[in-house]
Parts: sequence; C-alpha cells; structure tokens
Amino acid sequence: MKIQKPVIIGNWKLNGNKKSIHDMFIPLTDFIINNSIHNTIIILPPNLYLDYIYKIIYQKNIVLGSQNIDLNCSGAFTGETSILMLKDIGIKYVLLGHSERRKNHHEDDMLVAKKFQLIKKFNCIPILCIGENKNEKLKNKTKIIIQKQLDLIFNLCGDNAFDRSIIAYEPIWSIGTGIIPDPEYINNIHQYIKNYINKIKIVNHSEHTNTLFIYGGSVNEKNIKIILKEQDVDGVLIGGAALQYNTFSTIIKLSQLH
Ligand code: PGA
Repeated sequence: MKIQKPVIIGNWKLNGNKKSIHDMFIPLTDFIINNSIHNTIIILPPNLYLDYIYKIIYQKNIVLGSQNIDLNCSGAFTGETSILMLKDIGIKYVLLGHSERRKNHHEDDMLVAKKFQLIKKFNCIPILCIGENKNEKLKNKTKIIIQKQLDLIFNLCGDNAFDRSIIAYEPIWSIGTGIIPDPEYINNIHQYIKNYINKIKIVNHSEHTNTLFIYGGSVNEKNIKIILKEQDVDGVLIGGAALQYNTFSTIIKLSQLH
C-alpha cells in the first residue's frame, strides 16, 4: 500500500450526480498536478459512479474507494455490491464500520469484522471506522468501545489483522455537528489504538506494519491544520467538506503545510 501521508479521504455518502462529479474531479485532477500535491487523496463516491469517475481520472493522482460492500460475493442478493465487482473495475479501498451504516443498517461489530475479513481476503485495503457515541463519551467509555470494536477483528483475522489497513477514529458525536474534540484528545485516542494494536502483535512476536491512523468528524478548512499537527494523526476522513471543490482543494492545500 503506497500511501503518502497525510492521507485525505473524502466520503461523499449519498450525494452527487454527473454534474457535481465533473465540477469536482476535472478541476481537482488539475489542481493536484499543478500544485505538485504529494499526499494520497482517496475519494469514496456512491458505488454507482465509481466506474464512471475512474475513467475521468484515469492515470491521475486520485484514488477511488467504495463506501460499502456486501458480505456475499455473488448470487441472489438483490441490490448489493460485491467486492469482486469492485476489484473488476480496479477499486481497492473499502470503507466499513461507518456509524451511519451501524445505525441505519444495523451493522454490528461482528458483521463489520466479517466484512473486514472479506476485504483482506481479496487483498483490498479496509478503511475501518471506530468510535464512541456521545453517551459513551460522557460515561468515559471510549477506550472500552474501541477495544471491543478491534477485538472482534483480531479474533477473526489474527494478530496481523491491521497490517495494510486504515483505521479511522470517528467520535460519532462529532460527525456532521461542526464540533471536534480537543486535538490532544484525538492524539491520545490514536495513541491508545496504536498501542493496543502493537501490544497484541508484540505479545505474539510480530511487527506492526503499514497501518494508518486517521481522524474523522467535522473536519474542515478551519481545523485541518490543528488536527494534522498532532503526531499520531496520519490523515483525515471528511464528509460534508469533501463535497465542494473549493473547500476540498483548500483542505488538501492546507494539509501540505502542517
Ligand atoms: P463530516 O462526516 O465530516 O461531515 O462530519 C465525517 C464522516 O461521516 O466520516
């Protein structure tokens, strides 16, 4: 996985159409080339548009990923997207565990762990979202929640589960609210996740390789620099602020300067 830090990931969720795709990707590809942007930019549009966008940005410096896959690879599963289909059109990155899927589609930790396993099995790169809700934060349960979310994946995929992976710490209470935690708090949680993953690996005599730890939740052009200043933050996952070219390109530019 050749990712240049800080990685900037834009999650379009259920937004966009052919016009907004052109409005974003045509200037963005030029912007990246003209400004010699060196960090990796990953965009997750709705799956329906992946192949269309792939052709527009062919040979350019942006990577595409999927917002979701099904646990099944083929068969009688109406309305789903298979990882084999994604691979067929050249997609390697897959988001999973996002709080909106956990909440709106009842995806629990076990289902997320199984999806994680499937993504790894096909040599793709998971972008795993984990994090606590407001209530859990108030009760000081953040680390317990995160540990539980990671443990099921360790159980299923083994000690090296998180090699070649991206882990996005996304406090649910921050997503779409305009509120971000203190940058030191973000760093502290990132350190905790990193140490937890390393501890399991070290106990079993293997080395931690190629895992990126990124932050998501209300990232915008005003806070990007203070977030990326933190030592254990390797990048960001952005929702709303990734939908408009002007804002997104400003964030990318600022991410060079931190
Ligand atoms: P937001 O979304 O940047 O709009 O808060 C982040 C996310 O849902 O990953």
